[in-house]
Amino acid sequence: MLLAHLLQLRGIESVVLETRSREEIEATIRAGVLEQGTVDLLNEAGVGERMRREGMPHEGVILRFGGQSHRIHLSELTGGRSIMVYAQHEVIRDLVKARLDRGAPILFGVKDVSLLDLDTRLPKIRFHDAEGATRELACDYVAGCDGFHGVSRPSIPSRLRQEFTRIYPFGWLGILVEAPPATEELIYAYHERGFALVSTRSPQIQRLYAQCNPQDQPGAWPDARVWEELHARLAGNDGFELTEGRIFQKGVIAMRSFVVEPMQHGRLFLAGDAAHIVPPTGAKGLNLAAADVRTLAQALEAFYAGGRTGLLERYSETALRRVWRAEHFSWWMTSMLHRFHDESPFHHRLQLSQLQYVTGSRAAATMLAENYVGLPFGDN
Ligand code: PHB
Repeated sequence: MLLAHLLQLRGIESVVLETRSREEIEATIRAGVLEQGTVDLLNEAGVGERMRREGMPHEGVILRFGGQSHRIHLSELTGGRSIMVYAQHEVIRDLVKARLDRGAPILFGVKDVSLLDLDTRLPKIRFHDAEGATRELACDYVAGCDGFHGVSRPSIPSRLRQEFTRIYPFGWLGILVEAPPATEELIYAYHERGFALVSTRSPQIQRLYAQCNPQDQPGAWPDARVWEELHARLAGNDGFELTEGRIFQKGVIAMRSFVVEPMQHGRLFLAGDAAHIVPPTGAKGLNLAAADVRTLAQALEAFYAGGRTGLLERYSETALRRVWRAEHFSWWMTSMLHRFHDESPFHHRLQLSQLQYVTGSRAAATMLAENYVGLPFGDN
């Protein structure tokens, strides 16, 4: 949706194919943290009005361990950069509205999508539309923004792609709660019983996570167990109290790291989860997808405005530099903050030492802060 919007601003036509309905994509709960660069991109693209009104800027983030909170002052450590808490489905709503207001096409409810002739000058997309009719679109380029399970990545012949994967031995139980915020800033908590995260969605709705077994069904987590674990993992002697409330949604999220190289083949360009997955601990997933399409929009603009294909040819190389930085940061945050079941007391001490260093040294805190708010875009 963001790519289609960025292209339209440059006068480049596109068609968006979506397998789900508008209602579904506008209601699915996903990420919530926007990097400074993503905020700037949405503002520059003219779709930041509601985000500026309803989003919550945060200038710091809390690491909690040993019963105490340690603040990382993001904006002070990064020359004024910060993050915005504004839910992904709200960004989607703003983008859908911007596109439909301009009368530009989004085909919802399409099925059986396949990509053809990607290594020719006229690639095609074949699909069934919402009415079940078979349709075929011919185009200059295909942007594969269809997620980890989409058809785009497997459309690159397997001998031409290399995949890198790490599966983590834990998941996150995520809940939505009707309650006022317990904290002004996000709390990432490391505890012997496992990781916990206190985030927010609005002054009335809070988003909380607890490390769990990745095979757990939400039913294994009755409300009483959820609260018991969260209270235990966030406990301390500094007076912090988690606010309870009605839990109205529960789900288990698996954790993986994944990258495919290259992110392009012929006239197909992959962006977002179609090309890479990060565990959510660094809050990077949505932001990486936004950075990909920013790069792709610039490359397509250079082609349509001046016939230059250099940026398109280098798309994968350019995008992968940022992708691997985010992969490392997300893996590092995940490794520092979770309990691993085969963990030895030695490993536990190393994690505590790392947390003390990151919260005690300005240099180490700056490393976390600049990755968390997002490194500035290195322009191609
Ligand atoms: C969220 O609010 O959903 C959220 C926040 C920070 C993360 C992951 C998820 O690292």
